[in-house]
Amino acid sequence: MSKLIIPKIIGHRGACAYAPENTLASIHAAADLGVEWVEMDVKLTRDHIPIIFHDEELDRCTSGSGRVADTDFRDIRELDAGAWFGESFMGEKIPTLEEALNAVIDRGLGLNLEIKPCPGREVETAEIALDFATRIWPDDAPPPLVSSFSHVSLESAMDVMEEWPRGLLIDEYFEQWREIARHLDAHTVNIDGLKLVPEQLEDYLAFGKPVLAYTINDPAKALELFGLGIAGVFSDCPDVIREEIETTH
Ligand code: G3P
Ligand code: MG
Repeated sequence: MSKLIIPKIIGHRGACAYAPENTLASIHAAADLGVEWVEMDVKLTRDHIPIIFHDEELDRCTSGSGRVADTDFRDIRELDAGAWFGESFMGEKIPTLEEALNAVIDRGLGLNLEIKPCPGREVETAEIALDFATRIWPDDAPPPLVSSFSHVSLESAMDVMEEWPRGLLIDEYFEQWREIARHLDAHTVNIDGLKLVPEQLEDYLAFGKPVLAYTINDPAKALELFGLGIAGVFSDCPDVIREEIETTH
């Protein structure tokens, strides 16, 4: 398995400023922009099919409503996941993990797969997602970075595929984060770049692993974070951040 090299800019939910988040259209939008990696969220339908979707509820990003964890895949498949974003995306579906992985692989992208379990489904979401992903992902490609806010999901990911690197997502700073990162053998620490406190950043950087920041759409903020030692940022508009980096170097 080749070594993981994390790019400075990762497309968030694909490139979700330009296409409906977490859809195949969003993966292709990112690839068309020349983005190297995308981040996508995976969770389970009621009947345990891994799909790419962020929210616990269907309402914001689809023509449907109700909880993902209460809805079977065949009903989820009927929903429109593009029209809310723009008329030209009408007919876009919520992709399965398998479809999304195939698109990522076909377009030669790297991947940060975020395990985003519905409450109470932390173990099974990681196990099923990793089981699919490890069967599909090419052996000769750099492995995906598997991240989660859920320590339980990361522990399960470690059990299923220890060799795939893990990213510990941290929403709010908490005292025991280092212990947990060590226990999970985290390869990266992924923090909220908009809530950053200088002393906390020092602490994160001192851990000695790449620190990634979400979700950075302001190019000036991205430059500031890179200057402070952040290794990479997640962005809805990765092209805007890249342009800023290119014009300032
Ligand atoms: O993985 C970075 C970022 O996606 C974490 O937050 O809510 O956008 O999944 P969220
Ligand atoms: Mg995410």
